[in-house]
Amino acid sequence: MNIKNICCIGAGYVGGPTMSVIAAKCPDIKVNVVDLNKQRIAAWNETDLDKLPIYEPGLSAIVAQARGRNLFFSTDVDQAILDADMIFISVNTPTKTYGIGKGMAADLKYIELCARQIAAVAKTDKIIVEKSTLPVRTAEALKSILSSTGNGVNFQVLSNPEFLAEGTAVQDLLEPDRVLIGGERTEEGEVAMQALHDVFHNWIPSERILLTNVWSSELSKLTANAFLAQRVSSINSLSALCEATEADVDEVARAIGQDSRIGPKFLKSSVGFGGSCFQKDILNLVYLCQTYGLQEVADYWHQVIKMNDYQKRRFAQKIISTLYNTVNGKKIVLLGWAFKKDTNDTRESAAIYVADYLLSEMAELVVYDPKVTAEQIYADLDYLNTRSESENRNLVTVANNYDELFDDAHAVAVMTEWDEFKEIDWEHVFDRMLKPAFIFDGRAILDMPALENIGFRGFAIGKG
Ligand code: NAD
Ligand code: UGA
Repeated sequence: MNIKNICCIGAGYVGGPTMSVIAAKCPDIKVNVVDLNKQRIAAWNETDLDKLPIYEPGLSAIVAQARGRNLFFSTDVDQAILDADMIFISVNTPTKTYGIGKGMAADLKYIELCARQIAAVAKTDKIIVEKSTLPVRTAEALKSILSSTGNGVNFQVLSNPEFLAEGTAVQDLLEPDRVLIGGERTEEGEVAMQALHDVFHNWIPSERILLTNVWSSELSKLTANAFLAQRVSSINSLSALCEATEADVDEVARAIGQDSRIGPKFLKSSVGFGGSCFQKDILNLVYLCQTYGLQEVADYWHQVIKMNDYQKRRFAQKIISTLYNTVNGKKIVLLGWAFKKDTNDTRESAAIYVADYLLSEMAELVVYDPKVTAEQIYADLDYLNTRSESENRNLVTVANNYDELFDDAHAVAVMTEWDEFKEIDWEHVFDRMLKPAFIFDGRAILDMPALENIGFRGFAIGKG
């Protein structure tokens, strides 16, 4: 089966970059990316490529290559469904904020709405691809909704979870470690899996395209994120012990990472992991385990989240206790707000929670991030509902450059590992700050001995 027309519902961090790469690599396939969000679609259609809705290194070049040729962004969801042989569903699956499973389970209302819309609109057979991260056995629900119309249209449901990381999305899509496709082990299922395999095979070798049953594929995505987050929580838990014992967490990470069974990646201690998915997906996994009566398994994975919360709280408390147990009225500069470098995404960023702790102690924060807007920073704080919107604006200033950023500050805290923070003229910063001048490196990226030579009093995560 030769796919000629793809529709992707959801033009977000996954749908946008993934479809751009498919379109760039498969010039014979027409790719329509659709979304209800008019503003987002308008931004994807911006002639000024600096104004795309998502910042990812290399993305604008890929969009420029394919957009208008075989890549289109639109709000006409129905038309794109009608035209497609294959429909990716790449909508958001946030943690539920109401009802049963509140705060734990994935909210599948957007997924279900897509399935219902496809069922209502489609007139020809289609392959439906779950791109969103979903609880295991969601394909069953999708299939049930899709097959309920009785209009003779056939649907095959595949699971094709996305493993890209933000900040390296384009690279990850161009050269993935693997692509995972789960499908029904029936003749029709195999044909559908082969069709999706062939799309990816335009640039990815077959040995990196794994075919499994649907449930393994759905569960592998939650498992991958749980393992990755677990590594961060594991090293972060040991950062606390390193600080207490004068061991150096980076040295420990290097020593254990050289063991080929452990491996060197994902062992960088930090102020805590963020991002839209680790926490949401682990909570989803925990909820699933509970639903199946596996409380011990649920508790095991829940600890990864608890350790992460502890790390964020611990960092904020370190700042407060070092600043003589009061930050009331003290100017503290937060460097970075994004949840990691090279992205403008701030969802679940550790910076938000550290800021919230400090604001509750009446600190005056000045935030600088090279890619995050003031509007986003205030929205993130307002969303927590800890204090009024006007209090957030009174206590937090957002800077868009380094001019006067450090003037009269008591402390600087590195929240995101942006490369440019390593290039800052710290002697100049020291001159501008109040004394004693404190620096808290939540990413352990700065040369702390050099800073201490300048006169700073320094603390880096995981360093004694
Ligand atoms: P996102 O919020 O950036 O984008 C989702 C988009 O779907 C939004 O623009 C929204 O308007 C649109 N949408 C929702 N319902 C719709 C509907 N019925 N019709 C049309 N459009 C609709 O989300 P995202 O970060 O792209 O994540 C999407 C999924 O991919 C999630 O399940 C997430 O867990 C998963 N995922 C995300 C990442 C990541 O790095 N962000 C990586 C791997 C997997
Ligand atoms: C993560 C996974 O890496 C992707 O494979 C997955 O597709 C994605 O989640 C998803 O499902 O959304 P992402 O959250 O974009 O990708 O970024 P990561 O590089 O995984 O970083 C997540 C968080 O962990 C960041 O806050 C990062 O700073 C932190 N981290 C990561 C550490 O603190 N230390 C590390 O060693 C690695």
